[in-house]
Amino acid sequence: MKALLVGGGGREHAIAKSLAKSGADLYAVMGNQNPGIRRAAREVLVHDITDVATVVAWAKSRGVDIAVIGPEAPLAAGIVDALDVAGVPAVGPDREAARLETSKEFTRDLMREHKIPGLVNYWAFHRLPDFRDWLRECDFEFVIKPVGLTGGKGVRVWGDHFRSKKEAEGYAEEILEHKVGGQARFLVEEKVVGEEFSLQALCDGSRLLPAPLAQDHKRALENDEGPNTGGMGSYSDADHLLPFLSRGDYDAALSTMRATIDAMAARGTPFRGILYGGFMATRDGVRLLEYNVRFADPEAMNILPILEDDFASLCERVVDGNLPATARFKRKSTVCKYVVPAGYGTKPKAGARIKVDEAEIAKAGAELFYASVDEHDGHVFTTTSRALAVVGVAKSLQEAESVSEAGLKSVQGDVYVRHDIGTPASIARKVERMRALRSRKE
Ligand code: GLY
Repeated sequence: MKALLVGGGGREHAIAKSLAKSGADLYAVMGNQNPGIRRAAREVLVHDITDVATVVAWAKSRGVDIAVIGPEAPLAAGIVDALDVAGVPAVGPDREAARLETSKEFTRDLMREHKIPGLVNYWAFHRLPDFRDWLRECDFEFVIKPVGLTGGKGVRVWGDHFRSKKEAEGYAEEILEHKVGGQARFLVEEKVVGEEFSLQALCDGSRLLPAPLAQDHKRALENDEGPNTGGMGSYSDADHLLPFLSRGDYDAALSTMRATIDAMAARGTPFRGILYGGFMATRDGVRLLEYNVRFADPEAMNILPILEDDFASLCERVVDGNLPATARFKRKSTVCKYVVPAGYGTKPKAGARIKVDEAEIAKAGAELFYASVDEHDGHVFTTTSRALAVVGVAKSLQEAESVSEAGLKSVQGDVYVRHDIGTPASIARKVERMRALRSRKE
């Protein structure tokens, strides 16, 4: 099978490894020179991945049988629609189905219309005076979300990113004036409190195949402080749940996603590809925070390394519409820690050389995924985004965390890592926070 892979991050390196393990011939298009993907691929095109016409023409000229799209930007640009016209089936939604990620308002309206569980109260604004009127009446904490794509960095939460109505108004003004997320429109949602978790699933338009749960860490600094980022690292547990969640929480998240797939099929816009639900486990049950229409990054690096079934065959079954209900994943824990350029989250330092001793990382038993780095003359350099990830896979979370740390010792440069991710202390804090929340009386 000849497979086109679009994207040059850590998630795409994980997809590349899985496709290569399945024996696929890989043709990769990416905006940066990711050395891991380059080595896994038969051929690489370094080019703007949202230049749909060029990417599709290149894929066509290479005779690819199937395409796997990593990030949201080419999906938002309509790459799947264009590949379809060119006769190349893709693991990824067309532009209409991609609205589950590209328009937060579309998702909330769909949930309301189809009575999908997990909805929070929300309001949409495109005029500042309307928001000011709303603010005057408001007596609860809320979240402001630009309607469109912001790379995970546009959501502002009361208490975390702003602390007064005046500051909220300031951010609203910024969204409307600068069209943050591409549109002068934003949602306001009631703030829900709890622990976030990620459920990723393959979808074939009507069926959904869920992967083990994982938890990302969005804040730049240890103890979940500092600005929001694309995600600093993540973990998953050997029982495929998370230490602070019950089976009931997992079932609730899965019901929300199944109901969404049903609703998309019912409106004549079936969802094919990867659906990733970002959920919050709250005192009152599970709430959907947002959908993404792709694998999560970093969480793809938790689930793909433990997938036992053949990934390329599952991709074929996504596009053929005959996805099985389940797949086999190893009963192993995983801990993924991203290495990012110094200053990431505020002023990331691009162009710094990183020394990566791949042999030593492998000797430590860890897996390496290159992300948004560039490679020149055999050396690896930072860009302004996440550089590489080191993943430990082991019997327990504690062991997986130690393996990741052992691997990280062989990465040197002007870089930063959140070492707290997946540590026993960090996980115990989450379990305790959730326990306290659940036992709290109103
Ligand atoms: N886990 C964050 C993201 O993929 O957007």
